[in-house]
Amino acid sequence: MGGTRILILGGTTEARRLAAALVARTDLDVILSLAGRTAEPARQPVPVRTGGFGGAKGLARYLKDEAIDLLIDATHPFAARISANAVDAAGRSGIAAFALCRPAWLPVKGDRWRTVRSVAEAIAALGPSPRRIFLAIGRQEAHQVNAAPIHHYWVRSVDPVEPMLTVPDVTYIHAKGPFRLEDELAMLREYRIDAIVAKNSGGDATYAKIEAARQLGIEVIMVERAHAAGLPAVETVEAALHRIDHLASSLMKRGV
Ligand SMILES: NC(=O)c1ccc[n+]([C@@H]2O[C@H](COP(=O)([O-])OP(=O)(O)OC[C@H]3O[C@@H](n4cnc5c(N)ncnc54)[C@H](OP(=O)(O)O)[C@@H]3O)[C@@H](O)[C@H]2O)c1
Repeated sequence: MGGTRILILGGTTEARRLAAALVARTDLDVILSLAGRTAEPARQPVPVRTGGFGGAKGLARYLKDEAIDLLIDATHPFAARISANAVDAAGRSGIAAFALCRPAWLPVKGDRWRTVRSVAEAIAALGPSPRRIFLAIGRQEAHQVNAAPIHHYWVRSVDPVEPMLTVPDVTYIHAKGPFRLEDELAMLREYRIDAIVAKNSGGDATYAKIEAARQLGIEVIMVERAHAAGLPAVETVEAALHRIDHLASSLMKRGV
């Protein structure tokens, strides 16, 4: 008899760490799902499937076809569509499900944050005078800066921004976290950045820019997360492992 079948919706460090912690377990069969956005995705410790499912219905179909017992949404806190689909599909399938979602960053003394609800609002908040902006929101929504061509932009993403931005003054930086504080400090100084646009992603890998901004007194326009009703959530890989043990033993008792 096979083990408890788990589908992890991934694309995050936490999903990879969770998979790594489960790979040796003979009582579990783990599959990790990636959207297929990055050209060279990080190697994963468990079997991977790639690409969209075709909405919530498609995901529910996949859960049934693959006889998945437990769905874990470990996608990025800003990946709202797949998380909504996970809620819907888990409801349709009636299987156990939870989310692994790292906590948001909180401002601390010395931070100069302006919080906004969307990238569009962040770009509008840059104001009418030319500024030197470090855009650290990934490539998918980078095109929103086209609405404010007056500023100078340094745009960091893992893969190239396509199509390229139409603003006249832009420098593209291709880099993948984790980022170190000393490097972020050096970069912000070198480009004489006076505001950062960031998403409140949480976690350690991309926090150095926030700390560097605090040290240099740079304003951060922080895009906060949307609060949609989601799956019951845990915040750490360790808590996820605990919940998996609990759910796997109750699934076994029920003979699933
Ligand atoms: N948004 C960010 O800032 C961000 C940052 C870092 C990493 N990521 C990762 O990048 C991926 C895409 O993010 P997004 O913001 O484009 O997501 P999204 O807007 O929530 O999802 C758009 C569509 O992409 C597909 N999809 C997303 N994640 C998937 C996954 N793990 N496996 C299979 N299909 C997936 C789904 O297609 P169907 O409806 O066809 O199933 C979903 O409806 C996610 O895996 C996320 O964890 C996102």
